[in-house]
Amino acid sequence: MPIPINVCFLWPGTNASIPAGWARETLIGALQYPKGAAAGVDPGATGGVSSHQHDTTAHTHTIAHTHTTANSPAGSGATSRDSGTTNPPDTHTHDTNPDTSNPTETMNDQAPGTDNPTVTLSFFRVIVIKSDGTPTGVPDLAVAIWDDPAGPPTSWNLCDGGGAPARPDMRNRYITQAGTGGDGGGTGGNLTHTHTIGAHGQSPAHTHPDVTSSQKTQANVAGAGGGAQVGTATSTHTHVLTIASATVTYSGGADSAAASNHEPPFRTEAFIQNNAGADDWPDKLIGLWMQTLASIPSDWALCDGTLSTPDLRALFIKGANVIGDIGTTGGSLTHGASHTTTGHTHSATSHTHTVTVAAGAGENRTAGAVSASTTAHTHPSWGATGATAFTTGSTAPVVNDFTNTQPLFTGAAFIQWQAPPAGQPFYIRDSYSLPDFVSATQV
Ligand SMILES: [Fe+2]
Ligand SMILES: [Fe+2]
Ligand SMILES: [Fe+2]
Ligand SMILES: [Fe+2]
Repeated sequence: MPIPINVCFLWPGTNASIPAGWARETLIGALQYPKGAAAGVDPGATGGVSSHQHDTTAHTHTIAHTHTTANSPAGSGATSRDSGTTNPPDTHTHDTNPDTSNPTETMNDQAPGTDNPTVTLSFFRVIVIKSDGTPTGVPDLAVAIWDDPAGPPTSWNLCDGGGAPARPDMRNRYITQAGTGGDGGGTGGNLTHTHTIGAHGQSPAHTHPDVTSSQKTQANVAGAGGGAQVGTATSTHTHVLTIASATVTYSGGADSAAASNHEPPFRTEAFIQNNAGADDWPDKLIGLWMQTLASIPSDWALCDGTLSTPDLRALFIKGANVIGDIGTTGGSLTHGASHTTTGHTHSATSHTHTVTVAAGAGENRTAGAVSASTTAHTHPSWGATGATAFTTGSTAPVVNDFTNTQPLFTGAAFIQWQAPPAGQPFYIRDSYSLPDFVSATQV
């Protein structure tokens, strides 16, 4: 009895060395990862991504920054005084004014995406080969999947790189179909990946609180005025300084995201190689099937958790490091939380704010004053604040999940050879019941 047509195993050698009776199974595309087809779904569905990009949760940066307030130029308007009055002087300045400080300048709601790197799941390249219905066993050096933690069958060995010639080292790796016409045997990819977050910024406007200028006390010297004497004149005063809004340009902000595992949902099985030196076909070998589920050959059981098979539906197969790893499951369709970021700052450009000044009381003549009004005044062209550049506080953006990190895959049925007892009638397992024995004998 030959291996049925279209039953597939794995060939880790060259394209030119594919044994007679076997040919590449083209229903698994070049560089595609075989994945167990979902329950009830025929093989052949494709999906997955070769790169991905994350969104991040919006983040802000805050920082206090301060500007010095310029000294005033000489005031004007304090000239309405009695004829002949020479003091107090009508010009004065305000210096050593208070700084103006914005304690919580905020760079708002930045949600930069990550970069979009090519992410390749760690792989061992094979040629998925299918029987033409004539081989009487799995070829020497071909690879099969094995689920029995008791160990591989006689003359088969774990693909761990050991032996001479060395077996393929498929530990901790997933299988991919070789490129069209290409050879098996290459390795590549990784189990984890990182991202970077690019520079991002904005140019928001911000304000500073108004300040009150320094207080000016001028020496008053009474002077004779025309007609009446000037009495006491006080000239202590301040001005309210209004600080106009200004924009700053935030730049920089590059950040890096920590490595995250990108393994899709998997079950660990042993990849084992036929080292018998000839065709061999031991019981319980697991191969692949790319035809319909309904056409799985007799005595081959779909690996769906029934008939003592592992349930490999909707799963990728990861190569066991040791036989004892068989049956381990893991992986996820999403990842993101483990892409923790290191935190970053932004530099803000140097900027100033325009200052406008309210009228100050100026000298205030009191008792004895005549023809004297309160000589409110301003200081025209009060200079802008001093220039300030600053660096924001550090914030570490949260990287959101990416929801499908499966590698590019083709759905496949994993099927297990369940040899009927030698010389005994065999039956079609899918419809097995006592009256349904098929009247045939294994050959
Ligand atoms: Fe003044
Ligand atoms: Fe930022
Ligand atoms: Fe990622
Ligand atoms: Fe400012």
